[in-house]
Amino acid sequence: MAEYLRNAWYMFGWEQDIGQELVSKTILGRQVLVMRSSDGSLSAMDDRCPHRFAPLSMGRRQGDTIACRYHGLVFDSSGQCVHNPFSDLIPPGCKVTTYPLEVKHRGVWLWMGDAEAADPGFIPDFSFLDEPGHLLSTFHIGADYRLIIDNLMDLSHIEFLHTDSFGGGGSILHGELSVREEHPYIYALWEMDNIAPPPWATAMVEPGAKVDHWLDMRWSAPGSLLIEIGLTGAGAPREPGIIPPLLGAHILTPETDTSSHYFYSTAPAAQSPVDPDAPKGVSALEDEDKPMLEAIQRAMGDAEFWSLRPAILSVDTGSVRVRRRLAKMISDEQKATFETA
Ligand code: FES
Ligand SMILES: [Fe+2]
Repeated sequence: MAEYLRNAWYMFGWEQDIGQELVSKTILGRQVLVMRSSDGSLSAMDDRCPHRFAPLSMGRRQGDTIACRYHGLVFDSSGQCVHNPFSDLIPPGCKVTTYPLEVKHRGVWLWMGDAEAADPGFIPDFSFLDEPGHLLSTFHIGADYRLIIDNLMDLSHIEFLHTDSFGGGGSILHGELSVREEHPYIYALWEMDNIAPPPWATAMVEPGAKVDHWLDMRWSAPGSLLIEIGLTGAGAPREPGIIPPLLGAHILTPETDTSSHYFYSTAPAAQSPVDPDAPKGVSALEDEDKPMLEAIQRAMGDAEFWSLRPAILSVDTGSVRVRRRLAKMISDEQKATFETA
């Protein structure tokens, strides 16, 4: 059973995808319900009635309350039972656990730990999404979220795994990885200077011209990543570049120990002159990353990552730094909980 960082913001979904219907998802192994009230506000609670544990998402909406479908107890958006069909008395403790919820940068973020510590200032900066035009998508991968972080913090796999989508055409092998920290972020920057353009960019560059290309991935705990993709003439300033630096969100929320919600954004078509997936009709994420990560998860079973004694390559510097940081944050949190208990 994986241990999760509790005092952290996890993305539940994109705000645009939550309408009047109750939305229930498994987050960190718990079934969580998000409801939108008539004033437009959102609230999150366990999707479990405190009486006989029926999922409240199977219940009936009655205005801004939910009536449990099993025996009719009614709960408001604060999780409080407000009606008992069998008595005027509300049983003591008849309350559903709720979670702090914030809407920021078009995402719905939940805090699964100590509610007193839930500071919206800790939500990572994805303010570029507040600009119009970014396409927001939701995806699912049957793998531990840390395997997906490994995948994103080490983009060398482009050269081998993404050959049928956008591919690297050898560009990645001319790159150099550097890892830097700017609290609370860890960055893995892959820089490819003075190279022949990768295949997806050849049409944008004069024949024979060289380019500088970079992929800068930013991680913040537990699983929020932001990529900047840039391409400019060799030795030329990074902006405006041949393409302006493109930003993309890759936000991971553990569903269970072996599955993850994956929320991502795609740059507006006006900014991105190429659709990397288009040339061969193969989706890098769906057809290449997902099957590989799910196969890795099956190969690992429920073994703990380090217990398998993985070989470490130089390209792993960013992903290993993140794994260690995350593990330390989780163990520090558990120690603090233990000491205050
Ligand atoms: S299980 Fe919900 S009222 Fe009984
Ligand atoms: Fe990938």
